[in-house]
Amino acid sequence: MAQLIDGKRISQEIKDELREEAGKLRERGLEACLAVVQVGEDPASSIYVRNKRRACEYVGIRSLLYTLEEAASQEDLLRLIRQLNNDPEVHGILVQLPLPPQIDEKAVLEAISPAKDVDGFHPVNVGKLCIGEKTYLPCTPAGIIELLKRSGVSIAGKECVVIGRSNIVGKPMAMLLLRENGTVTITHSKTENLKAVARRADILVVAVGKPGFLTREYVKEGAAVIDVGIHRDAHNKVCGDVDFADVSPVAGAITPVPGGVGPMTISMLMRNCLEAVKATVVSK
Ligand code: GUN
Repeated sequence: MAQLIDGKRISQEIKDELREEAGKLRERGLEACLAVVQVGEDPASSIYVRNKRRACEYVGIRSLLYTLEEAASQEDLLRLIRQLNNDPEVHGILVQLPLPPQIDEKAVLEAISPAKDVDGFHPVNVGKLCIGEKTYLPCTPAGIIELLKRSGVSIAGKECVVIGRSNIVGKPMAMLLLRENGTVTITHSKTENLKAVARRADILVVAVGKPGFLTREYVKEGAAVIDVGIHRDAHNKVCGDVDFADVSPVAGAITPVPGGVGPMTISMLMRNCLEAVKATVVSK
């Protein structure tokens, strides 16, 4: 039976470390401040935003919430971002995705100052990640690296297969695994013979967005399986992209859903916020 990778516990451990660091920064007169922007009232986004703000409170990061109505124009949102970019009190800016259809997501993400881009989505920061420069790491993939490290799963030299090529997870995940000296393959919906490719993996990261997609035929005995999906099944129960009951007997380690990757994303956001406030001192 696979080792269960407990994201909830590891995420709490990280938040406690960050809380201690935030305390020390405060003694030096530095308090991080995150501006969270939500457009509309998508229920899932509201839950994410609430959880992010709760984590801020726990760690000791000031959070400011800006809510725009669903019908807000792109210019309304860009105006707010410009204001936050120019506000020296604000260290990090997070615009919760998805945005309503009248707003161009790309234009919005590009408007956020790269220095305040704690999501790590700005093209400048994506580029820095690719060439190995220090930058804000995208939260979900960075959380997965922490999960692996803190669970004793070594990455260097290992076969890593990422299923999914999104800009938020798949692509940056591959870059981070590469940075840790993994041998990385990115697969996607057009990949031929996916089961055979996935079965090469010592570390298999699954981000396909389909409930229960990954069954044991994709998994080499003893592999670490990381499930990025989050869905509700036919019985309204939260589940991931991995068929946990089928895969866990063959995997060496596996993340549950919920309580695996999800909580780590927020901890990494908190880490980025502290990086943001520290950077204001270095750059002065
Ligand atoms: N929506 C779903 N995941 C994310 C994320 O990591 N950041 C932002 N800003 N929006 C999201």
